[in-house]
Amino acid sequence: MITIRPATLADAAAISAVHCSTVDVWRDPYTRQPTDVTALNLFGRWYNGGPWMSVETCAVHLNALLLRRHVALVAEVDGHVVGEAEFYINREPAPFGPHLHVSILYVHREWQHQGVGRALIEAGIDYARAQQLAALTTQPESEAVGFYQGIGFQPWMRMLEMQATAGGDIPGNLELLPCDAGPPTHLALRLGRYQCGMRGWEVLWLSLAIPELQALRRSVWRGELNGTPVMLGLHEQFRDPTQADGYAWLPPSAPLSPAVAALRGLAARAGYSAVDLLLPQDALSELQTRFKLDYQTTVTLWKIDLATANQTFQLSNV
Ligand SMILES: CC(C)(COP(=O)(O)OP(=O)(O)OC[C@H]1O[C@@H](n2cnc3c(N)ncnc32)[C@H](O)[C@@H]1OP(=O)(O)O)[C@@H](O)C(=O)NCCC(=O)NCCS
Repeated sequence: MITIRPATLADAAAISAVHCSTVDVWRDPYTRQPTDVTALNLFGRWYNGGPWMSVETCAVHLNALLLRRHVALVAEVDGHVVGEAEFYINREPAPFGPHLHVSILYVHREWQHQGVGRALIEAGIDYARAQQLAALTTQPESEAVGFYQGIGFQPWMRMLEMQATAGGDIPGNLELLPCDAGPPTHLALRLGRYQCGMRGWEVLWLSLAIPELQALRRSVWRGELNGTPVMLGLHEQFRDPTQADGYAWLPPSAPLSPAVAALRGLAARAGYSAVDLLLPQDALSELQTRFKLDYQTTVTLWKIDLATANQTFQLSNV
């Protein structure tokens, strides 16, 4: 029998073991060549799948997630943790609205295809309903699309990662934020929506004391562009220090082009040559006419709308 329960810090080692069990080949972060896991330091392990890849960083990550009152669930069989899911609570303006985002779902290699993943997602759906959140969203890896489709998720928003050259003026007043600033609650993450708004915010602030991660530059600005409130962020890419990922939180109906212009200007001022911008596909034509943008990749946000979903899910003891 599969039991679902909230994760605690005491689960860090077991959660890390679940994630590590799914790695086919460990790779060196610099050469990308296959390597023995024992040759990797904390950064090397992080590179192969994030903070869950070592017990130390998994505990730090879980601690931050739980302190911010997001949700981590584990699936147990006979008292052993066999799967883990993490969900971020987002309360953003339209079109996103109040929703629960599935940011992580991993089932131990030996327990896959036995109902564990479904049980974890159904528990998340149950939690979202109890919290009156309107939807569940996720950005699945391509291998897991069939799994999410089977549970009832549907493609919702197609986003294109486009690269803009850095340069130009900054059209507004912006101030650099201190590192203890809270996430914006009245604005939506509309550029750089990798996963969800709360996850985007987290990425911009350093949470692990790992030198290789500390060396990557991150900056967040708050201010106004043409009288519209904004928050903007830049994050140096590990692979190429001349490039940054750009983030912009804006009101739902504000045009995106002032934020793109500001991110290009801020990127140039910080010494980057280009900035990657993940933007909604329907905004592309407006932005292409003004900026030269080069296509990088496509990301799709999937959703279950809980108001219209007809399934009723049971929490725990599946
Ligand atoms: C993807 C994953 C979470 C699915 O969990 P799981 O416990 O193996 O899946 P379940 O047994 O609950 O499967 C539920 C249903 O989805 C189907 N399914 C499972 N994995 C699937 C996949 N990769 N593609 C298509 N369908 C899949 C199952 O056949 C099952 O269908 P059924 O209910 O009709 O029998 C798990 O395989 C995993 O951890 N994979 C590695 C990490 C990963 O890819 N995580 C997702 C990142 S977005």
